Amino acid sequence: MYLHNAWYVAGWSNEVTAKPIARTFLDEPVVLYRAASGALVALEDRCCHRGMPLSHGEVAGNDIRCEYHGMVFDRAGRCVEIPNQKLIPAKAKVRSFPIAERDDLVWIWMGDPEKARPAEIVAYPFHKSWPYKCKTERLPCNYLMVSDNLLDQTHAAYVHKSTLASDTDAHARAEMETVPTPDGVRFTRWMLNCVPPGIYSKAVDFKGRVDRWQEFEYVAPSCILQFTGALDIGMGAYDQGKRDGGFGLRIFYGITPETEHTCWFFWSAANGYRQNEPEATEALFTAMDIAFREDDAVLEHQYATLRKLGDRPLVNINSDGARIHARLALERKIAAERGIPKEHVVTAP
Ligand code: FES
Ligand SMILES: [Fe+2]
Repeated sequence: MYLHNAWYVAGWSNEVTAKPIARTFLDEPVVLYRAASGALVALEDRCCHRGMPLSHGEVAGNDIRCEYHGMVFDRAGRCVEIPNQKLIPAKAKVRSFPIAERDDLVWIWMGDPEKARPAEIVAYPFHKSWPYKCKTERLPCNYLMVSDNLLDQTHAAYVHKSTLASDTDAHARAEMETVPTPDGVRFTRWMLNCVPPGIYSKAVDFKGRVDRWQEFEYVAPSCILQFTGALDIGMGAYDQGKRDGGFGLRIFYGITPETEHTCWFFWSAANGYRQNEPEATEALFTAMDIAFREDDAVLEHQYATLRKLGDRPLVNINSDGARIHARLALERKIAAERGIPKEHVVTAP
């Protein structure tokens, strides 16, 4: 079950060019392209004549020409040309979707176009102020598995043994705070006086043990903003709110349903410690990419099992608090959109 009236990440700005690309969001095939004017266009990826995907066609100025019989559609989805035919039937149109570009991201609105307000797009100024590198992935699981995974970081001690974990004991002792918000949940995790993970100690010259924080903000339906870092112990990270002078990493996650069983995973890793060194940003990205492969393997196996045995109950433990608040926020929004009682909304396993 999807929330339709919401902005979802459709891609990175530099992915959408004059060469059309096909992407499915919320079960709906969409063609994305950049018009000659520079504006972005998102149309239903199905020509209204004989159903050819428009993504196979060619951009002509601000419009797109179907590769089958050459009909041309403008950015509003109206047919504006039929070769060798003067009269254009009023029904000759395809659906167009509101689309916007912010902070190097492309956002799409799959619901009622009248309700689309670009001012409500989640702001992420760090793509302008911190050096970063990004990636687009397609994952073989329901999109909620991905946010569930990010909001329960106790998995790091086991899934990320060689990358993000430090000592397992520090994870077991982590202090966690979960604060529900109207749109989702904020979640903070402190690992005090712990051994820095390999990624951190390769990036920054720590004296020894560190105080390490992980701050997450989930904004329903599918955005997570992460700020993670560590300072040498005694530098005031925990008790004085200091964040500079050690390791700092910001991660943007856009998790967009493709179908019920697959999703898009758009993420960026921004370097907050050696910002004038492109090789440091590159190394950070590579390290995070390796760590996310570890998550991807878990998600794939977990979801395959849930699809087979999804009708059997699961058990929540303490560390599920943040992801449960995230699910509740999403269910509130879906219920409001559909005008139904919240208890009638079941999002996924
Ligand atoms: S299918 Fe597109 S013009 Fe015929
Ligand atoms: Fe992970």
